[in-house]
Amino acid sequence: MSNSVKAIILAAGKGKRMKSSLPKVLHKILGKSLIERVIDTVLKSGCIAQTIVITGHQAEEVNKRLSDAYTDIPTILQEPQSGTGDAVFQAYENLRGFEGTVLVLCGDTPLLSEKTLFEFVKTHQESGACLSVMSAIFDNPHNYGRIVRGNDDQITKIVEEKDASPQEKNIKEINAGVYCLQWDKIAPAFFEITADNAQKEYYLTDIVDWSVKKGYKTSVFTIENNYEIFGINSRKHLAEATKMLSTITIEKLMEQGVTFICPQSTVVSPETLIGQDSIVYPGCVFEGVNVFGKNNVLGPNTFISGNVKTDDNVKIIQSKASDSSIGENSTVGPFARLRNNADIANNVRIGNFVEIKNSRVNTSTNVSHLSYIGDAYLGANVNIGAGTITANYDPLTKIKSKTCLEDGVKIGSNCVLIAPVKVEKNANIGAGSVITRDVPQSALALTRERQRIIENWVEKKLNKI
Ligand code: UD1
Ligand code: CA
Repeated sequence: MSNSVKAIILAAGKGKRMKSSLPKVLHKILGKSLIERVIDTVLKSGCIAQTIVITGHQAEEVNKRLSDAYTDIPTILQEPQSGTGDAVFQAYENLRGFEGTVLVLCGDTPLLSEKTLFEFVKTHQESGACLSVMSAIFDNPHNYGRIVRGNDDQITKIVEEKDASPQEKNIKEINAGVYCLQWDKIAPAFFEITADNAQKEYYLTDIVDWSVKKGYKTSVFTIENNYEIFGINSRKHLAEATKMLSTITIEKLMEQGVTFICPQSTVVSPETLIGQDSIVYPGCVFEGVNVFGKNNVLGPNTFISGNVKTDDNVKIIQSKASDSSIGENSTVGPFARLRNNADIANNVRIGNFVEIKNSRVNTSTNVSHLSYIGDAYLGANVNIGAGTITANYDPLTKIKSKTCLEDGVKIGSNCVLIAPVKVEKNANIGAGSVITRDVPQSALALTRERQRIIENWVEKKLNKI
């Protein structure tokens, strides 16, 4: 692409139709906020030199999220928020002397693809237009601005729903809210647009009418996948966008050889990769960025909330996982929970009602029933009996300590390992023990009382009564 391109993303609006204390653009779709979806699309399009975000309503929260997630996305405050035209105008100083293309997008249209964006910018620059507007044909254009075309089919203006005549309301071609501006030509428009409309706001859409009247070439880029410019203004829209994005992702994964037993009951983020011949049972939700290997069995009812990686032949049944990895041929669940850096090796079994947090579990180790393993290192071929827990947290000092179980260690059922503690290679712990001191290699540690038998105790008791 010849000219340099800067992007401005509008994210200052209140989003009052969301009825939320959270800024609209921070609402999430499948684990990623609306604004991050738009920014990532811009970054991935590969044709943008700089991206600026206009913030306003609850700017502090939006700015914080952006500085946590990105290193080089400057924000400009729009205060008060008097319309989309006024929002772009806030970048005027920043863009002084810039002679390239300014791409304007809304922070509430998260389904736009990088391919569409790239094509749009390319078409704009090749056409030599001063202003290009992205449009789409909607069966139900309600609430969007309409593209008004003259007798020669050329765009003459954009009219907002609230300002449209009954005839204009019948127009099905809508304004996507994405524009390319030849900045040095179009910038003067921002001094001339007025707030003389139904919403008493400075409409960005008014620059179209301005550009046409100036005699500047003004073009429309109509996209085919019109779901891409779906704007989020309400909770209903949020649900619809989630459904659309998930459905497209599932269809793509099915084409790549993944079985979904009931796609309608499954929700998958576009950042989730699933290997060939995996089977996803009903009721699964996969949010955030995840990579599943080949031949996995996932679900039913498995909730993955991001940063989960599995190798081939892994099963995760009726379980919840985040920020964890699982090696080849390992099984998790039913009813297990992996979180905060659970690092599971190959051929491991994490069974019913087991929680693993910030722990490494090595090859061929079993934690099969009713356990909590936190801040621990479990060697290879370790067996953890049912009901065993690592007591990693001291509520008085608030210090968390580590448990280390070396290769071949066997822990009987219902043991408590009070961390910090180390059990050396091949040592055994008797069932029901509370272990507070390190156990040497190949030893047996027992802390429970010896069993006593009182003969005929029941009869004696009854006689007394
Ligand atoms: C806008 C367009 C409409 C288009 C639709 C596409 C205008 C006047 N209308 O309408 O033609 O069909 O998008 O989705 O532009 N914002 C600010 N500052 C403000 C007001 C809004 O930054 O003062 C931001 C919002 O945060 C939002 C975006 O601009 O991200 C669009 O604002 P919104 O109020 O949602 O506009 P729409 O009514 O959807
Ligand atoms: Ca909108």
